[in-house]
Amino acid sequence: MTLIYLVGLPGSGKTTIGRLLARRFRLEFIDTDHVLEERLGCSIRTYFEREGEDAFRDAEQAVLADLSGKKNTIISTGGGIVLREANRTCLKNSGKVIYLRSSPEELFKRLRRDTQRPLLQVEDPFQTLKKLYEIRDPLYKEVASYTLETGRPSVATLVNMIVMQLEMSGVLAEHTTGLVQSN
Ligand code: S3P
Repeated sequence: MTLIYLVGLPGSGKTTIGRLLARRFRLEFIDTDHVLEERLGCSIRTYFEREGEDAFRDAEQAVLADLSGKKNTIISTGGGIVLREANRTCLKNSGKVIYLRSSPEELFKRLRRDTQRPLLQVEDPFQTLKKLYEIRDPLYKEVASYTLETGRPSVATLVNMIVMQLEMSGVLAEHTTGLVQSN
């Protein structure tokens, strides 16, 4: 099973790290938010405003179900994907899940100028991040095969740590001619 998911709060680095990991292992890279925007035909922010969060979560669940049959792929997921139990079951059953764990303080530093994430377009985004963390941290842990604290290490170090973890556990192996993988 070479399907690896990255989960974590918005701003935890899922897309950046996912892209680098995919390049390193020569796997396909997919970002669920990008797939969603293509399907919805508009930005996530616009869709949220027009249709509401429930409709967005339905679309997100459908995307995950469709992608969960993929092989040789790294998938970075939207931060709220773990909210639905069906999604948590799907993540756990279809691949290895890496949780990029970041504190609300750290995330706030990265996201304070963000204009794209609908849930953070509020008066006090730091409070929102704290609430999201409280609710979601246990859910990310529930689905995670590995958890990485993103606090201090650079992106390159985090990628190396994940590579080592995946190789040590036999999930993936790096080869000069492409990626071969075990179960
Ligand atoms: C969301 C996170 C976003 C995106 C949507 C909802 C969330 O993805 O799916 O705005 O509920 O945390 P990122 O985690 O990539 O920002």
